[in-house]
Amino acid sequence: MSIAEKFVSMEYGPAPEDPKDATAWLERHGRRFELFIGGTWQAPAAGEYFDTLDPSIGEKLASIAQGGVADIDAAVRAARAASPKWRALTPHARARYLYALARLVQKHSRLLAVLETMDNGKPIRESRDIDIPLVARHFYYHAGWAQLLQQEFPDYEPCGVVGQIIPWNFPLLMLAWKIAPALATGNTVVLKPAEFTPLTALAFAELCQEAGLPAGVVNIVTGDGLTGEALVKHPDVDKIAFTGSTEVGRAIRSATAASHKRLSLELGGKSPFIIFEDADLDSAVEGLVDGIWFNQGQVCCAGSRLLMQESIAEPLMSKIRDRMSSLRIGAPLDKAIDIGAIVARVQLDRIERMVAQGVEEGATCWQPQVTLPSRGFYYPPTLLSNVHPTSIVAQQEIFGPVLAAMTFRTPKEAVELANNTVYGLASCVWSENINVALLVAAQLKAGVVWVNCTNLFDAACGFGGYRESGYGREGGREGLLEYMEPSWFKHAPRLPAVETKAAAQVTEQPEERLDTSAPAIDRTVKLYIGGKQARPDSGYSMEVRSPEGRLLGEAPLGNRKDIRNAVEAAHKAESWAKATAHNRAQVLYYCAENLAQRQDEIVHRLAASVGEKQAAAEVETGIERIFSYAAWADKFDGAVHNPPFRNIAIAMNEAIGTVGVICPTDVPLLGFLSLVLPLLAVGNTVIAVPSEKYPLIAGDLYQLFDTSDIPGGAINIVTGYASQLLKPLAEHDDVDGIWCYGDEAAVAAAKAMSTGNLKQVWTNEGRVIDWFNSKLAEGRWFLEHATQVKNIWVPYGE
Ligand code: NAI
Repeated sequence: MSIAEKFVSMEYGPAPEDPKDATAWLERHGRRFELFIGGTWQAPAAGEYFDTLDPSIGEKLASIAQGGVADIDAAVRAARAASPKWRALTPHARARYLYALARLVQKHSRLLAVLETMDNGKPIRESRDIDIPLVARHFYYHAGWAQLLQQEFPDYEPCGVVGQIIPWNFPLLMLAWKIAPALATGNTVVLKPAEFTPLTALAFAELCQEAGLPAGVVNIVTGDGLTGEALVKHPDVDKIAFTGSTEVGRAIRSATAASHKRLSLELGGKSPFIIFEDADLDSAVEGLVDGIWFNQGQVCCAGSRLLMQESIAEPLMSKIRDRMSSLRIGAPLDKAIDIGAIVARVQLDRIERMVAQGVEEGATCWQPQVTLPSRGFYYPPTLLSNVHPTSIVAQQEIFGPVLAAMTFRTPKEAVELANNTVYGLASCVWSENINVALLVAAQLKAGVVWVNCTNLFDAACGFGGYRESGYGREGGREGLLEYMEPSWFKHAPRLPAVETKAAAQVTEQPEERLDTSAPAIDRTVKLYIGGKQARPDSGYSMEVRSPEGRLLGEAPLGNRKDIRNAVEAAHKAESWAKATAHNRAQVLYYCAENLAQRQDEIVHRLAASVGEKQAAAEVETGIERIFSYAAWADKFDGAVHNPPFRNIAIAMNEAIGTVGVICPTDVPLLGFLSLVLPLLAVGNTVIAVPSEKYPLIAGDLYQLFDTSDIPGGAINIVTGYASQLLKPLAEHDDVDGIWCYGDEAAVAAAKAMSTGNLKQVWTNEGRVIDWFNSKLAEGRWFLEHATQVKNIWVPYGE
């Protein structure tokens, strides 16, 4: 074919990357790899190995050690032994190690890129131009944080030994996302790579040796899900960071519930890719190529649901089909390839199965005429149209090069469809109208929104999901916080175990049979739901007694139905989240004003429960605490990041949604205010279970809220036994977060019960918080837990 003919046909010749250095590296290791523990290579205790394959041809690349329980234990011990010295290093010394790792990644970038492509099947163009440069960027960025750590986080300390489990879709990049922040903050690490793609993690272990990283600071234990499980369950691990499927994330949440391991989960997604009729359609189609065909669609934030405005559906679909026809699929080491191989046979089977089911459910399947390589695991780019929003292909992560297309008419409908999933990882909005794009971005329930761009990542911009896409962020300042704890909190004493009241032990009295002859019943309070006082569904109350046993009054015994009503009311009060921060601040100030006005009377009543001195201090500090959060309401801002592209990323602190709160028992007023106020200040709606010992404070609180212009439903109060109300709260799918203050058993229960929809959970970890100490018991740390960061990327320039 002449050059002129080629110019017309635009056909490419083969342009294979030479794998000889990677092959030589494999040969040098005898194509067999041990575990990297305590700075040396060790054979697995059980002597077992498994194969890692090149998915582009389906052939074995190397034998990999299968780490077992004993190996995980050895690695955790090595990490623990290395911990004191590593955390005692100066920030500058740690910064130098991270900087050295960044330099070494760059120095060996081609080897790493080729190995990644051979092990994973992704096009070399992507591993060379995206994955590995981002790996280096991550280490550079965190070398910077290591340097600044003491200045920026003087009162924090590292978690300790961190267990990290990563998936196969971005093997070295996920390693960097995990290891860089962990090391920068002074943790030591045991990392388990995915079984399909262990090679670049093993090459990275060599870079650690080359950088002279102290032995045991980074340990790499290869293996499958069982190895990961052993790491999760190891009692001497302080934190687990996981990226992978929502199903495994949920299992890890359950497995860690009874421990004090911190947890961050980056899970699946079903991200919407919204195109409005005024979008630049050609750019949007190019964005879509990156959105769903990048890395064969094996991307947690893949734009796998195309939502297009009805008026442009036809021309857009035709442009998409044209573009799909020019995508090149084949050997991933070829530099001109767009779509490489699927990681493994089982993943290919899964994609085929899900597409077949989608078609059975009514979708129309279109694929371009492409010839797939005869060997290896390949799947063609696929477009599913006529997809019903409830179909499996619209709801579940396919993790393949498959786009499910749907239409919408109005921006409102687009938002509804976009949010109609259990996930909330990422989303794209394409519109030339910046007002519409940002309005929609604000309403999307997703941790990342790309406006007129897609799949952009940077170490400075936090990444992570809402809802069942997990919790915690990787990257940015917020990502660092996942690897540290405030020193005071880490060393706070344990709360003594509280005897939980089983239903049988409760002395329940129907309201009409109250013992009116008992002395000094001050008052009978009610539940507070949707801005109104309400009788409990059970019709029962519980007696409230002073420490000396005097009957002080009665409080309703709330049950599951009351919680359901409260959740419904909280959802209806969405206007609170939309109120301006100034407006929320004003309402909170008004609360403080009203509490001050009724100070004497409330102190007097509270004194019967907690004594004069504590009552006076609770009310006084309570007024101050409300002032504090009123002050914070319009100051807990986000940030604007400057990633190294022509973009700004607007990091917004958004409310979590509806949060259930189990309040402290012994500090009834101040404990309640300390937990509920940070949530309210940033726009959450709350269902609070006040002190089960002294619930009469509820009466004073709702009078306070009633007179302070807090919209009905923004705060709801259900009195009763915490152990019984926790369950319906934690298991309710319309509750987005749980805050639980209690003993070890209570916080373990809160975590275990919240796994269903993967609620964001904050607990005191069974530790004592001194609510009277304003230096510790209020401020940023609570606000950070009351919010989640959404990064909105907006490009600039022509
Ligand atoms: P997976 O969630 O099973 O694997 C991810 C990592 O977790 C691997 O290192 C694996 O060995 C480990 N693991 C598995 N079971 C574990 C357990 N019980 N405890 C601790 N660690 C465990 O994902 P898999 O099976 O490779 O892929 C299945 C589906 O998951 C994909 O089709 C995709 O939908 C989703 N997925 C999502 C990812 C994401 O980035 N969000 C990444 C990988 C998979």
